[in-house]
Amino acid sequence: MPAASATLEIRGVTRRFGKNTAVSDISISIPQGQMVGVIGRSGAGKSTLLRMINRLIDPSQGSIFFDGAEVSKLQGSPLRRWQRDCAMIFQQFNLVPRLDVLTNVLLGKLNHRSTLSNLLGMFSRAECAEAVAALERLDIASAALQPAGTLSGGQQQRVAIARAMMQQPRVILADEPIASLDPLNAKVVMDSLQDINLREGITVVTNLHTLDTARTYCNRIIGMAAGKVVFDGAPEELDREAVRLVYGADSNGGEISEAITSTSVAFKRKIAASAGPLESAFPGY
Ligand SMILES: Nc1ncnc2c1ncn2[C@@H]1O[C@H](COP(=O)(O)OP(=O)(O)OP(=O)(O)O)[C@@H](O)[C@H]1O
Ligand SMILES: [Mg+2]
Repeated sequence: MPAASATLEIRGVTRRFGKNTAVSDISISIPQGQMVGVIGRSGAGKSTLLRMINRLIDPSQGSIFFDGAEVSKLQGSPLRRWQRDCAMIFQQFNLVPRLDVLTNVLLGKLNHRSTLSNLLGMFSRAECAEAVAALERLDIASAALQPAGTLSGGQQQRVAIARAMMQQPRVILADEPIASLDPLNAKVVMDSLQDINLREGITVVTNLHTLDTARTYCNRIIGMAAGKVVFDGAPEELDREAVRLVYGADSNGGEISEAITSTSVAFKRKIAASAGPLESAFPGY
């Protein structure tokens, strides 16, 4: 059943790291049920924005509201409730590799339970059944008893989505969920997020490093450059000029080089190995 309608409001939000302004005075309003793609060059501030929404970091200025409540002010158990309502998916899956898949998924329930039952480490039959159902939905139930670390990247990301669903979230924030995946697995993961968005009416906000994916899956695209929103509209409004605004003059209007948008570790490694002069653009890889 779709969650009750609630808007995510970002009002005048800025985040500084020392002298560097990662996000600069952003105001956006996201109604419940939208599937939003956030695009922009590496360093544009996409992850910082998502992390502030989830309260992994706090804004330097401005406020964030959900369903009328100021989430940027929450502390203690209301903050934990918000972090449960607002599930996060990461590029590197963030599973516990040595634990089996089912237990990883059950960990999504921790914020729903009393401290005592968490300490006892026991999950009820109903919780286990819910976890299996979540895995079945993501077509990965056959791996339930395998250590999560033995699964392929695409499988692990599906487990991470199943874990997120155990939180019964109202919003899913995904930070480059497919940047480490091959095209086939990337499609499976994006199809799953879209299905959740359409069937449950859960708002999805996802950072994406390829324009094609944002165009295919999102009904709204937010383009960021140097910490600011420079485009906010429907995929069909993202024309050559808008693409240049987001990615800069060297983006050749629509034909975006992966090198300026990708944050995939594998991609950076490939570039570094195949093209000497570009290596300096990706120090450390
Ligand atoms: N914890 C931090 N400490 C210091 N600076 C940070 C921190 N997190 C982010 N920054 C800086 O803030 C800016 C925005 O970073 P952010 O990670 O949000 O960009 P991004 O758009 O997600 O980039 P990418 O596509 O590479 O993931 C960058 O200049 C980055 O170096
Ligand atoms: Mg990022």
